[in-house]
Formats: sequence, C-alpha cells, structure tokens
Amino acid sequence: AIWKKQTSVYEQEMLLKQTLSIKEAKIVSGNADYSDYRSHEMGLQVSNYLNQQLDLGHHIIAITGGTTMLDIAKNFSKGLSHGRHFTVVAARGGFGDQLAAQANTISDILAHQLNGANMSLYTPEKVSEETYRLLLTEPSIQETLTALNQADVLLFSVGDALTMAKRRGLDDNEINQIREGKAVGEAFGCFYNEEGEIVYRLPRIGMQLKDLEHIELPILIAGGASKAEAIKAFAKLAPKQLVLFTDKGASTKVLYGE
Ligand code: G3H
Repeated sequence: AIWKKQTSVYEQEMLLKQTLSIKEAKIVSGNADYSDYRSHEMGLQVSNYLNQQLDLGHHIIAITGGTTMLDIAKNFSKGLSHGRHFTVVAARGGFGDQLAAQANTISDILAHQLNGANMSLYTPEKVSEETYRLLLTEPSIQETLTALNQADVLLFSVGDALTMAKRRGLDDNEINQIREGKAVGEAFGCFYNEEGEIVYRLPRIGMQLKDLEHIELPILIAGGASKAEAIKAFAKLAPKQLVLFTDKGASTKVLYGE
C-alpha cells in the first residue's frame, strides 16, 4: 500500500500498459461510477493524444454508442481539425429508445466538433440472420460499412456483461447463457469471460470485434471501478495496438484489486 501511494500517475500508466500487454494506457483522475467524480477531461485527453498521433490530411474515425462515447464526443477539442479533415462514422446501428446515447447521434456530435462529415448507419443494431444478409445489399448501408472498413481510428467502450445484457433487452434464455458462461464484459455484441473468451455473441450489424485487428488506432475509453473486470478481460482478446484511456477508479481496481 505504501508503494502504491508513492507511484506517480506516469508509473501507474506504465504498469497498467505492461499488466494488460497493450500499446498505451492513460489514466485521468476520478471514478466514472459516481457522477460527482466523472471526468470530463477524458474527451480532451483523447483528442490531445490523437493530435500527437495523426498526420495532417483526411482521417476516418469510427465511434460506437453509450454514455462514455457521448461524454467524449461533447468534450473533444475542436483544435484537432486544424490541417485535418475528418469523416466520422457510426460503428453500429440503433437500439432502445434513448436517442442521446446512440452511435448515430454521437457520430453527428463528433463530426460537428471536428467540422467534418458524418456518416450514419440507419439500421436496428440487433437483426436476424436473414435480415442481416438483406440489409447488406442496401447501397446506403454498404457505403457506411465500406467507410467503417477504412477507419484508421476507432473510439469505443466496453461494459459490464450483465449491465449491457439488460440495457440491450436480452431475453431470459440469452441472460442465462451469459451467466453460465461467466461473462464479465461486453464489446461489439460479444460477451466474454475473464479469460477473454467469447461465451455469447449477438448477431448485429456494424463493426465487428475481428475488425479491430486492422485498425491503426483502436482506442478503448472506459472508466469506473465497475468496469475493471471488463477492461482486464478485454485486453486478453484485443489486438496489441490497443490504447486505453481510463480513470483512477478503474485503474486502481485493475492493478490492485481494490
Ligand atoms: O455499448 C455500450 C458501451 O459498451 C458501454 O456503455 O459507456 O454507457 O457505459 P457506457
């Protein structure tokens, strides 16, 4: 505990990066589980990081939905667009009735912040196998999926498995499979256990987990101690170029289990 108190944020970032075997880890203050300690700095930090990483010119940013992404998009620094042109693409379709946190809404907010173009994905996220095949033949959907394929940056979050299962309105049978598989987290419709093995997969349209391999800068943004397990396990299935932005609440739990 004494050693923990003496470590600087920089040292904790290095330790986190090594522990998770990822390219980079950044920690901001706060704990997103409590709104009073939720960091609004994260959007600014992510945009500053992109400012160091991205060449001038055109870039395609893919972004998912959820409250974290909404917060990030609103707080993105407009300065990033100096000398750069951005196309922002929604990485998934819509679900539920909360419009503020849909990927389509958030990609539009981010495109405005960056003075860029927005591309929506107009489809329900959860679709049957037959509908999925039919939708793929729609030109407007093909266009968005092609842009997603060319994205060089991806901004996304992960969530606690049961919280996400409930939010996505999964039925009892699906929830049972998630419980039996001991899922700890969810990302891109994949529920995974603490070893990073996928135990349940939702058929869905938009970016898929395997697509992360080809993205130059996949950036996971997840804060709050309640997401610690989901972050830790996700790192086991993520590509090595993963960059994590998190907060003190989550990083302390990942590193020290408290
Ligand atoms: O799909 C939702 C994300 O994976 C997590 O959502 O940012 O609201 O916690 P959140």
